[in-house]
Amino acid sequence: MSSGLVVALSLGCGGLGQPDAPTVRTTPRPPPASADFPQGYAGWSTASEVVRDERTGELRRHHASPDARLERAGWPPGTVLVKVHARLDAPDVVTRIDVRRKTGDATFGGWTYESFDPATRARIAADAEGCHLCHAAAPEDGTFAVFR
Ligand code: HEC
Repeated sequence: MSSGLVVALSLGCGGLGQPDAPTVRTTPRPPPASADFPQGYAGWSTASEVVRDERTGELRRHHASPDARLERAGWPPGTVLVKVHARLDAPDVVTRIDVRRKTGDATFGGWTYESFDPATRARIAADAEGCHLCHAAAPEDGTFAVFR
């Protein structure tokens, strides 16, 4: 009686030489939040202008990290600038967060360029070189937004 049960169990575990079925995860696990996500950015100082971009259907707000001030030599290392992409028809719906972080290193004029998913706060792919090519033409240390 008990030995019959053991046989049934071993057959049920691929005992017929069938390869194991692949494991299917039905609820995908979200990527982990990035430690570099600019926590609390919404409370930081805000650029004087909100950009309403009819062409892309976007509304964009810009923030600068606390105590960051544009100096004659540019923004000081440690400065974090944020570009918030939202929907023009639903300004509370944030679709992407772009970040420029001043390092003072030789790369990209002393800045890093990153993008984050606002829902998961995880990093998403960004073409940093493309970001830099456009920002390099901006008047004040590669910065378009005006914070005064
Ligand atoms: C084609 C030009 C262009 C590209 C490419 C571009 N930006 Fe910008 N960015 C702008 C402009 C113009 C503004 C300010 C006004 C606006 O949002 O339209 C801005 C604003 C910003 C700001 C706010 C501070 C500032 O520098 O003005 C951040 C942060 C930023 N962008 C990050 C990024 C990142 C990260 C990327 C790449 C994923 C990127 N940008 C790609 C043109 C560009």
